Amino acid sequence: MDLTAVILAAGKGTRMKSNIPKVLHEIAGMPILGHVLNLTNDLGINSPTVVIGHEAQSVKSYVKIKQKDAICIIQEKQLGTGNALECAKDTLSKYDGNLLILYGDVPFIEKKTVLAMLEQLRLGADLAMLGFNTEDPTNYGRLIIEKNNNVSEIVEEKEATTVQKRIKTCNAGIYCGSSKLIFSFLKNITDRNNSDEFYLTDIVKVITNKGFKTKLVLSDHEETQGINSKKDLARAELYFQNKLRDKVFSSGVTLIDPKTIYFSHDTEIGKDSIIRPNVIFGPSVKIKSNVEILSFSHLEGCTIAKGSKIGPFARVRPETHIEENVKIGNFVEIKKTTLKTGAKANHLAYIGDAEIGSGANIGAGTIFCNYDGVFKHSTQIGKNAFIGSNSSLVAPVNIGSNALIGSGSVITNNVPDDALAISRVSQKNKNSLGKRIMEKLRSIKK
Ligand code: UD1
Ligand code: CA
Repeated sequence: MDLTAVILAAGKGTRMKSNIPKVLHEIAGMPILGHVLNLTNDLGINSPTVVIGHEAQSVKSYVKIKQKDAICIIQEKQLGTGNALECAKDTLSKYDGNLLILYGDVPFIEKKTVLAMLEQLRLGADLAMLGFNTEDPTNYGRLIIEKNNNVSEIVEEKEATTVQKRIKTCNAGIYCGSSKLIFSFLKNITDRNNSDEFYLTDIVKVITNKGFKTKLVLSDHEETQGINSKKDLARAELYFQNKLRDKVFSSGVTLIDPKTIYFSHDTEIGKDSIIRPNVIFGPSVKIKSNVEILSFSHLEGCTIAKGSKIGPFARVRPETHIEENVKIGNFVEIKKTTLKTGAKANHLAYIGDAEIGSGANIGAGTIFCNYDGVFKHSTQIGKNAFIGSNSSLVAPVNIGSNALIGSGSVITNNVPDDALAISRVSQKNKNSLGKRIMEKLRSIKK
């Protein structure tokens, strides 16, 4: 069955009380609109039409990154969902397949639900629409349902009578039907209502009055939730996090306290890995099997190979690649660095713009001085090198394999393989002077 989609995403999202367009607010690190584009992609729709308006440039830039073949159409004035769809009319004038209409702020609709709607079209409905039941229908359009799940009308909250407001079956905002049919009746919608907007929902009344058949497909409110406010966004995040947690469990990962572990939409973790409580995964983290992430660690943009152990309190930043059996301990920050097999940085270190050889040991308090205030510079550390505690490695600098750096050194020159480098003031002991100074200080205090 021929299918394309229009996503309505031009609204300001006034109820979000934000300068960021509503559809660019993120759920699990991906804009709400990205979740909707994932659905069209899952359905095999390569060039969905996205109607944009408020902050059009920033929304368009995102759409092009996410799905380069998507077509963006501008709705100059946000005159309502009916008018938004009208804006896509010219683009689709030659198309005579089925049209799926999606709202850019309804992110969790699943492919199987759309397939159930398409099945209703196959069975003879002219327009299939998605609804859900909820105990709190406030702000959703209410469905007036006749026998056999035919919907005769959608009544918006602002127009609903007291009796209609008690209806608990609501409009999810997803419709599917022949593109020609929908566009031929869209012009019959008016803005004579309490919002002075063209309600797309009025199309149901228009086409049923002409004798066309509608059919309701029901899903649950979790799947159909729309996001209008920051509170809705938080609820959506929770729902999606639970889905991500289930996905991670099904890959054979142990989550010690799942509700305290937050994933990104694209987090990948291999089996028999263990994630301890209070761990946060930013975007683009790929972890192999048998990895352990200890509590209060924050990871983003990194890969971690099998058998490595990270944290507690580790911060792993983008472009970090951790090979097998590496140990990263507490209060270690790593950025744009490759740590080769078996390397260790167990305590209190900053490691940036570096390559660390296999088996190398980065002592407590080591700082990679990678930034001169203008440019970033890199550091190479050879295999099995040992960096004594509290050293500063001033980049650019290379430290050879099996080299040993004395504690507290400030290393500004390259160190050859197998060498010992120490750069610190050498120690002097003055016999009994310590005791004499202390006695003098105490006598002054008295
Ligand atoms: C809409 C439905 C309501 C349904 C609910 C489901 C209408 C009139 N009402 O209400 O029946 O229960 O969704 O979540 O459709 N948009 C535009 N241009 C506009 C106005 C809106 O592109 O001029 C876009 C918005 O960006 C948004 C979507 O359409 O992505 C829905 O608009 P919104 O104002 O959020 O509609 P609701 O009040 O939620
Ligand atoms: Ca909405």
